[in-house]
Amino acid sequence: MTGEGTRPRPLVAGNWKMNGLRTGIAEVRAVSAGLAAQGGPAAVDVLICPPATLIMVMAEILKGTQVSVGAQDCHWAPSGAHTGDVSPEILADAGATAIIVGHSERRADHGETDSMVRLKQEAVHRAGLTAIVCIGETKGQRLAGQTIDVVVRQLQSSLSAGTTSANTVVAYEPVWAIGTGLTPTLDDVADVHSAIRGQLVDRFGPDGRSVRILYGGSVKPQNAKELMSIDNVNGALVGGASLKAADFLGIVDAYA
Ligand code: 13P
Repeated sequence: MTGEGTRPRPLVAGNWKMNGLRTGIAEVRAVSAGLAAQGGPAAVDVLICPPATLIMVMAEILKGTQVSVGAQDCHWAPSGAHTGDVSPEILADAGATAIIVGHSERRADHGETDSMVRLKQEAVHRAGLTAIVCIGETKGQRLAGQTIDVVVRQLQSSLSAGTTSANTVVAYEPVWAIGTGLTPTLDDVADVHSAIRGQLVDRFGPDGRSVRILYGGSVKPQNAKELMSIDNVNGALVGGASLKAADFLGIVDAYA
């Protein structure tokens, strides 16, 4: 992990959400082949988070490549009577190396609160995996000028005391930018990421400088480079554009 004064190694993570049949595995093969053709190791970490059903097969296919596999959510218990849920231990056993927690779609569709997100983050660490903790304001909060307050509060309540740059990645995803084609201005992204960095350093000391902060929300090959040029943007969490290898590779290229 990088130290004080140096930029953390970028991470480009694809979140497939509730998309992906077995036929989608061809896209993952194409991503891995595309990166290999560029003669890696590239200066960027690449992660794909498919539906849980595809984790095991993808982990097998991607073994020894530059691409890792992650999951989109987990329960906080290691095992037990929780019908339909999966634990970090189960996901690790399937080959996941990272788990997204607190995505705004989980918060909205399943009523997940900051304290539930913190429990999930701690559970991810218990299983030895990396937690990608998502935060972001709604359109109403942005229009009311509350963006920084909301994001800082979510960060304070969603991150556990055991957060380090090795076990946690923060993803800033404005809810109104997800799947809409809209993005904040570059200045707005810079302001929010700088506030997040400030919080991380206040709370976790110098190691807070090395925690990767991803931007997510309508990232495309066309805007990836300008987003990556912003201070404290250490990669991207990509939804729709991660489903097609060519688009995803175009984004990875911008961060390499
Ligand atoms: P889109 O890239 O489709 O806007 O989704 C972003 C996202 O929610 C990734 O987690």
